[in-house]
Amino acid sequence: MKTILTGIRSNSVLTLGNYLGALLPMVRLANKHSGEAHVNIFVPDLHSIISEVDGDLQENTLRTLKYWLAAGLEVNDNVHIYRQSYVSAHSELCWILNCIATMGEMGRMTQYKEKSEGKASCNVGIFDYPVLMAADILLYSAEYVPLGEDQFQHIELARNLAIRFNHKFDSEVFVVPAKTAEQVKFMGVSDGIRIRDLLNPEKKMSKSTAAENSKIMLDDEPEKAAKKIMSATTDSLGKVKFDMFNQPGISNLLQIEALVNDVPLEEIITRWAGETRYGELKRKVAESVSRELTEFQARLSEISDEQVYALLEVGEKYANHVANAKLLEVQKAFGLR
Ligand code: TYM
Repeated sequence: MKTILTGIRSNSVLTLGNYLGALLPMVRLANKHSGEAHVNIFVPDLHSIISEVDGDLQENTLRTLKYWLAAGLEVNDNVHIYRQSYVSAHSELCWILNCIATMGEMGRMTQYKEKSEGKASCNVGIFDYPVLMAADILLYSAEYVPLGEDQFQHIELARNLAIRFNHKFDSEVFVVPAKTAEQVKFMGVSDGIRIRDLLNPEKKMSKSTAAENSKIMLDDEPEKAAKKIMSATTDSLGKVKFDMFNQPGISNLLQIEALVNDVPLEEIITRWAGETRYGELKRKVAESVSRELTEFQARLSEISDEQVYALLEVGEKYANHVANAKLLEVQKAFGLR
């Protein structure tokens, strides 16, 4: 059986960008494929500690796991939920992969450059976390890794490390994850997903942006979220058109509308083609987002801690079993066992 895998950090409440770029697409794929594939969903808590955590990490982790269920994930025997730090093989494989990764390729990682820019010093975790991410993926032989566009470079790194390792030992120890173009196709979208900052649509929506109205958080009151959409930056061209380069604000709204309603982007573009009143589009998107948030938050409030812990107990047993078996193959190849 193939494996589909993804993780979302739990440093704080998540944004609509996380929700539409990773959570919802993964839930839709999981519900579609879990009869014929393993679906691994985990909280990369070791990734969380490379930067500040808002509040208590364990509480955040629990909340993030509840998000998956509230987003509609149907759990069955093929769907596995776990926490990264409860499966020690992740850290061990990371170390081993560090010994085949190069300083040059790691230094080219955009996220590292962005996160370290202008700082006198930064922790090694920020430099190295894409290798840990490769370990997260390769331990489970995951072929498909639904992610937002900002993480694509890390998929390429995981592919390169898998290919390099297999070549070095003339082996097929690692399944090489699909290329990003195939990942996008698998997700059923025409391009990588990047939800934009509402006020400054050249940038991605991010929880670390200070301006409140630039981002929608998953715990925002639905009416407040609607107001943020209504005050989103657009342009003065006066024509609804999908053009991320010249009209990023309008294109972002079209993208959000498509993802929230699970309708192909092309269909939404056609539906709105020729519209000149941006207010109409904003009203529709605001309504879609506030409806989605209302339903999501209602489901979230019904999920108990016990429900999540029960899933973790089974999921972490499974994850340790699979990950330790793969780690042993790697250790043997390197002569450690
Ligand atoms: P993280 O926690 O920063 O982000 C989680 C997911 O949300 C997506 N995302 C977005 N998508 C669209 N538009 C946005 N504005 C937006 N903001 C965030 C991200 O692309 C991501 O899919 N290193 C990873 C976590 C991780 C992981 C893994 C993921 C660790 N190991 C193994 C998959 C497989 C991260 O920091 O994502």
